[in-house]
Amino acid sequence: MGRPILLRHLPLRLKSTINLVLLLLLLIFGIPSNVHSSEVKPDTSKVATDTSKVKSDTSKVASDTSKVSSDISVLVTEEASSHAIHEELSRGERYFKGLLPVNRKFESCVSCHNLNHSDTLNWNPSAMDIAVKYKNKDFAAFQSAVMKPNGNKLAEVHKNFEIEDKDLKTVKYYLDNLATTGPPAVGPTVTQIILFTGLVVLLLLALLDLMFFHKIKFKTVPVLILLISLGLLTKMVATAAIDLGRTKDYAPDQPIKFSHKVHAGANRIDCKYCHHTAEFGKSAGIPSMQLCMNCHVLVREGSHSGKFEISKVIEANETQKPVQWIRIHNLPDHVFFSHAQHVGIAKVDCKQCHGPVAEMDIMRQNSDLSMGWCINCHRQTKVNFKDNAYYDNYKNLHDLIKSGKIDTIRAVNIGANDCMRCHY
Ligand code: HEC
Ligand code: HEC
Ligand code: HEC
Ligand code: HEC
Ligand code: HEC
Ligand code: HEC
Repeated sequence: MGRPILLRHLPLRLKSTINLVLLLLLLIFGIPSNVHSSEVKPDTSKVATDTSKVKSDTSKVASDTSKVSSDISVLVTEEASSHAIHEELSRGERYFKGLLPVNRKFESCVSCHNLNHSDTLNWNPSAMDIAVKYKNKDFAAFQSAVMKPNGNKLAEVHKNFEIEDKDLKTVKYYLDNLATTGPPAVGPTVTQIILFTGLVVLLLLALLDLMFFHKIKFKTVPVLILLISLGLLTKMVATAAIDLGRTKDYAPDQPIKFSHKVHAGANRIDCKYCHHTAEFGKSAGIPSMQLCMNCHVLVREGSHSGKFEISKVIEANETQKPVQWIRIHNLPDHVFFSHAQHVGIAKVDCKQCHGPVAEMDIMRQNSDLSMGWCINCHRQTKVNFKDNAYYDNYKNLHDLIKSGKIDTIRAVNIGANDCMRCHY
């Protein structure tokens, strides 16, 4: 009686055994590669499709077990190679971050080539910068860039490098991967959320103690906690609300580390040499690469950034690919503003609106560009009425000055604060 039952149940058992093996395989190989899925994205997705293929095959398993086992071996080799890739990547990463080799005599790459965005200026190319530059170049090009420095700056910073080929290969591997996955996510938002929830919990605890538990002897303690956490929470919400849509102090990283401090400051280049439409046009304009090349045909190395940043200028000029500068100042569409009116006619200094640009390494928005900001300046700023031919047709104002009835004309007096002047 036992035999037929066993026979009847064999396919089912086989099925579940194979399922179990598959599950184990997935547990052993699948989960670790999922954890690092951001690092080996293309491979895991491939593996995932393979496993699903295997899974669908299991339904047919009773009829064709040999096919499944061959599929499993495919799966295993795929997993093994993804494992090797992962190993290479993490070696490269550890090398880049200075954890390898143990007896290193030079600084780690990451100490100069930042992985994350930093608020302070870093003249060195970021890790992402070099990753993108060498992504489509072969190892030899990368190796000679790192090991055979050309230029004064590079010779100074990349000195005493003793790096074996096989190690540098893993670094290139890591950087290539970085170029496709992007830099690791940064944490400030998470700490903000933790702080926020922490404060809410504190507030609730203090409130509960005050109302029900009365565990803390001195009433002032929970009251103080309540007030402080409430104050901090209000401040967090308020700053978040005000920042919405306003971009004062906005200072994004630009595709080229162009410094106004180096150009307008140290080298005293006139603002209007580069922003040459400011005097006559609505917009001040951003200079083209051709204009940069007026000087950078000769100046090929900067004292802060070496050759790296200027080589971007040269390349952009050669390929005629426009540089994607990130726009900083941006009025809403319903507001009309003209540089010509302010710079050309009213002779307002750039500084009054844009602040100490000649001291900025990274361009930063100096004013909030709010309506109140425009209006206030128009109320305060005197217009040089007498010596400017532009104002000749304001006959009655000239008469008022001559007769001594008024002695100064401010922007507001000639209609600068009429709604229609700024809003279409
Ligand atoms: C050598 C050329 C050059 C000179 C000189 C120069 N700039 Fe610029 N300026 C640029 C470039 C390139 C950008 C775009 C990159 C950036 O934002 O840093 C720019 C951006 C700006 C911006 C921000 C534009 C935006 O996106 O909103 C302002 C404002 C500005 N410049 C003002 C000035 C002032 C004021 C001076 C004189 C003190 C000056 N610039 C001198 C080249 C120049
Ligand atoms: C009128 C000449 C002139 C023009 C125009 C000019 N530059 Fe420069 N630039 C210089 C000089 C001089 C240096 C400083 C070299 C040094 O540090 O010794 C420099 C340095 C630089 C540096 C390296 C900074 C450092 O110290 O490492 C970059 C990047 C740069 N320029 C980008 C630009 C870009 C982009 C433009 C066009 C928007 C531009 N330059 C236009 C003269 C010019
Ligand atoms: C002490 C600081 C410092 C350290 C450490 C450092 N670098 Fe650099 N690296 C620089 C600077 C600065 C430049 C740009 C200099 C230039 O272009 O003139 C640069 C440029 C590069 C470039 C681009 C060269 C080019 O012009 O295209 C590569 C690639 C590079 N570094 C890789 C590495 C690697 C890999 C390591 C670790 C083994 C490393 N760097 C360690 C400072 C450093
Ligand atoms: C009265 C204030 C004021 C003065 C003076 C002024 N700007 Fe501006 N600037 C602005 C405002 C506002 C914007 C934003 C314009 C927009 O979004 O349409 C701006 C934008 C810019 C931009 C970004 C590109 C553009 O034109 O939109 C540059 C570059 C710039 N200014 C350079 C200069 C330079 C150089 C000077 C001096 C020659 C100058 N500005 C004088 C208020 C001013
Ligand atoms: C630093 C002072 C200052 C700031 C800030 C300023 N302006 Fe002005 N504005 C002037 C002066 C001075 C005049 C008078 C020039 C004239 O009209 O001949 C003027 C005139 C004008 C006029 C022309 C009025 C006419 O005669 O037709 C307009 C439009 C204008 N401003 C718009 C703006 C806008 C929009 C903003 C804010 C984004 C702004 N201004 C910010 C100083 C300023
Ligand atoms: C000197 C220029 C100027 C004049 C005059 C002016 N505005 Fe504005 N207005 C602005 C600017 C700049 C903004 C954009 C403010 C911002 O984005 O924060 C604005 C925004 C607004 C908005 C949108 C609200 C907002 O915060 O975006 C309204 C509504 C408005 N103005 C109405 C008026 C009325 C009504 C008048 C006449 C009494 C007037 N404005 C006169 C410059 C001006």
